Amino acid sequence: MNVINTKRLILREWEDKDLEPFARLNQDQKILEFLPSALTFEESTGWINRIKEHFKEYGFGLWAATLITGDHGLHRAGTRFIGYIGLNIPAFEAHFTPCVEIGWRLASEYWGYGYATEGAQAVLKYAFDELRLREVVSFTVPANTRSIRVMEKLGMKRDTSGDFRHPKLPLDHPLSWHVLYRVKHEKS
Ligand SMILES: CC(C)(COP(=O)(O)OP(=O)(O)OC[C@H]1O[C@@H](n2cnc3c(N)ncnc32)[C@H](O)[C@@H]1OP(=O)(O)O)[C@@H](O)C(=O)NCCC(=O)NCCS
Repeated sequence: MNVINTKRLILREWEDKDLEPFARLNQDQKILEFLPSALTFEESTGWINRIKEHFKEYGFGLWAATLITGDHGLHRAGTRFIGYIGLNIPAFEAHFTPCVEIGWRLASEYWGYGYATEGAQAVLKYAFDELRLREVVSFTVPANTRSIRVMEKLGMKRDTSGDFRHPKLPLDHPLSWHVLYRVKHEKS
């Protein structure tokens, strides 16, 4: 089982019970501010299946992010699904592909507690120490300052000549333009 542990999170492969909270999250207006559209239940199901295929093919992917809950003393700790944090090989061509991107999406009630950064730091360590990747990228629309802040906290640097139009969106789409961030393995 492919698992990454942090102080407050367990990043694990997807389970059937994750579908419902993931589908709910994909319809949350706050999440959708910088994303093209809400996903139907079927689209969320399809996405989880593609993530599972990615894990099968590459051995890594967008891990289901779960928050450790409960009392560690008398009661056994439980976990709660809060979104995903992980690595993905984009299925489109751009000037920086092929590449491995780091990405995250958390339910809005869990924003602002440092969970994305905590999980992504552990994922980045895994990418460099275990997978031996030389570089990891991330991208988003310029207005997504929360996500950009997470990239900065990970030590990623903006590629100032890397801005691109997302190939999966129409040229005139308001979310077409993306900024590109990169981080290289220190030893490479
Ligand atoms: C991006 C996202 C994962 C961040 O999750 P999070 O757990 O809240 O992130 P963290 O708490 O680790 O860090 C967020 C940082 O953004 C800052 N921030 C919060 N709101 C902000 C805003 N409106 N503008 C700028 N920075 C903001 C926080 O202060 C924090 O930085 P700090 O530690 O220096 O104070 C979450 O907002 C999300 O799921 N968004 C929707 C999905 C998405 O946009 N994914 C990326 C698509 S490419």
